[in-house]
Amino acid sequence: MKVTFSYKPISALEADLLVVILDESKTLHDVDALAVQRAIERARRLYQEKRLKREYVTNLDHDAKIPTFILFSTSLNKNYPLGEVVKIFVARALQLAKDFQYRRVAVVMNSSEAQPFVGAVIEGALLGAYTFDKYRTEKNLFFKEVHLEIVGHESDKATNQAVLRRFGAVSEAVNDCRTLVNEPGAEVYPQVMAEVAAKIAKARALKCRILDEKELQKQGYNGLIAVGRGSQHPPRLITLRYRPAKPSRHTLALVGKGITFDTGGISIKPADKMFEMKGDMAGGGAVLYAMQAIGQLKPTINVVGIVPTAENFPDALAQRPGDIFYAKNGKSIMVDNTDAEGRLILTDGLYTAGEQKATHIVDIATLTGSCVRALGHGAAGILGTSQALAGAVKRAGEAQGEVFWELPLIEEYRDMLKTPYADINNVGGTVAGAITAALFLREFVPKDTPWVHLDIAGPFMLDKEWKYYDPGATGFGVKTLVDLCEHFEEYLGE
Ligand code: BES
Ligand code: ZN
Ligand code: ZN
Repeated sequence: MKVTFSYKPISALEADLLVVILDESKTLHDVDALAVQRAIERARRLYQEKRLKREYVTNLDHDAKIPTFILFSTSLNKNYPLGEVVKIFVARALQLAKDFQYRRVAVVMNSSEAQPFVGAVIEGALLGAYTFDKYRTEKNLFFKEVHLEIVGHESDKATNQAVLRRFGAVSEAVNDCRTLVNEPGAEVYPQVMAEVAAKIAKARALKCRILDEKELQKQGYNGLIAVGRGSQHPPRLITLRYRPAKPSRHTLALVGKGITFDTGGISIKPADKMFEMKGDMAGGGAVLYAMQAIGQLKPTINVVGIVPTAENFPDALAQRPGDIFYAKNGKSIMVDNTDAEGRLILTDGLYTAGEQKATHIVDIATLTGSCVRALGHGAAGILGTSQALAGAVKRAGEAQGEVFWELPLIEEYRDMLKTPYADINNVGGTVAGAITAALFLREFVPKDTPWVHLDIAGPFMLDKEWKYYDPGATGFGVKTLVDLCEHFEEYLGE
């Protein structure tokens, strides 16, 4: 898709489809063409009388330069903030453009209040146009040919160019992440994750370190070794490092779970929906592609992306329930259930964050079915030891249209992780699984380092379309992590 800006009056515009969004509290358009003005007034009336359910599409046949006009009203969509609604409408407009084979789409954002929503237009278009069609005979080539013209307000010219660059980079990172998560487990295994990381590092001048299974064994990264034992594809530990031009006292570590396929291991999962576990590296993918965007957008803090990656398989060599290993920080772990593997490899990721002198840690993982049952697919869970950091992540999520809902780290539940056989058991009881998982992780967070854990098991993948997402991987977390890095000091109040 080609995205450009224009600053012409609507009457001088040439396009196949013109898109205007009506909101009760904000005016986003400034329209001079009389035919369009009349259509807007007609639509506004119909919306007010609740005679329109979805969108208002009309032909402007007396004005041949723009044959079709589509008008959305935010009054139909009260569930989301305006920015999200703009993304939904732009994605919807592009689907209509596809149905009618309209290749020139113009979105009107030219009032004095419209500029803050220009990024949403770009993101809605780019995320809305994504489909994973690599393995389908019928490819979706239409969006490659679309020219999206955003009609802006003259005085916002310079800002809009910066916004295009920023939202272009982030949306591309989200879509790249979606592709990695959508790819089958046979295609994406730990070495592939490492290759992706190396490629990103090269393209964005990041420092990259990959530890292979021999190094991991030698250095005692036993979470990865234990989980990876049943697989033909050995584990890797990936570290990417971004440094700003001007030294910063903050180093944010982003630690992502990179299980490239989770069968459950010897504690094997049921067959139903097991295929979705090809996306059990969605946290790791979010970290890798957030680093890609960070390398491009160059925020002012140090950022380290850490992705422990392994495949969880049953095998003669696989770990058994009851096996005990020593994590890198010296604590012994009994593996009661081999399907609670994410937290095992995250012990190595969290340790690495400490080695890298992280001042703050955010981990992101498709960690528990329990979190999906609590929050569904519309929100990720957030738990941690720092209210300031949790607040910062939530603010970043709000700015980006990703919802994080806090669950409590209830101290007395730590008892559920007790075992007579080792320092800690890898599973809790039958209840509060998202909380006991986080309490487990807390034991491996470097001392006195503010930490939050994001459980994205719900939103990482959808089985039907939602907002501007096609079914499949969402790339959840990329946008929030990038936004957090961009506004880190501001959000933390430091
Ligand atoms: N990858 C799964 C969690 C998951 C489930 C992610 C559904 C996305 C959708 C994780 O490794 C797992 O299997 N967790 C277990 C933990 C249990 C054994 C304590 C779970 O949630 O059932
Ligand atoms: Zn599992
Ligand atoms: Zn898993």
